[in-house]
Amino acid sequence: MRAAIVYESIYGNTHDIAEAIAAGLRARAEVSVLSVRDADHRQLTGIDLLVVGGPTHVRGMTRGSTREQAITDGLDKGLRTEARHGDPGVREWLTGISATDLQTAAFDTRIKAPSIVTGGATHGIVRRLRQHGLPLIAEPASFYVNRDNQLLEGEIDRARRWGSDLGELAAKQAQRQAVT
Ligand SMILES: Cc1cc2nc3c(=O)[nH]c(=O)nc-3n(C[C@H](O)[C@H](O)[C@H](O)COP(=O)(O)O)c2cc1C
Repeated sequence: MRAAIVYESIYGNTHDIAEAIAAGLRARAEVSVLSVRDADHRQLTGIDLLVVGGPTHVRGMTRGSTREQAITDGLDKGLRTEARHGDPGVREWLTGISATDLQTAAFDTRIKAPSIVTGGATHGIVRRLRQHGLPLIAEPASFYVNRDNQLLEGEIDRARRWGSDLGELAAKQAQRQAVT
């Protein structure tokens, strides 16, 4: 099985979660981890499972304006700032998908508080995946940072386990498809 994890990350946390999910998935799949900045939609050819993740900004997926603000703040405050001015986000990347025969899953990073307060990027990611007719193999997952933009303790392990669970679900789905 082949999987691709396409992530967006301003301060590196969603990137770290994407790598941990990949580590969990590798028991079952050959996995590529691709920044949304570099992910060419043609790289989805031959992929069985696509996992898409991004940070939550203003209760949803990032927008150009929130990314620009976050990058400026990050550079000013000396935070690890991976994104560059003008980079796309998952919102833009998802519009370019043309593949139709993929299993998918979605995750986000956000503050740990009730989602009615924080919102979450997965709502928009899932909606767009569904608009492309792409089925989800698992409930979306959220991984948590504190207000200083550091991952909470245990989140890397939780992401690894989620990746491992995704691998099992995708393998079962592939077996079912092979039988029918
Ligand atoms: C402009 C901006 C808006 C944000 N809005 C929210 C929000 O509405 N809800 C929330 O839970 N976190 C919010 N956050 C915190 C981000 O979710 C957090 O910075 C992100 O998960 C870190 O991921 P990254 O390190 O991959 O960029 C916001 C952060 C920024 C910079």
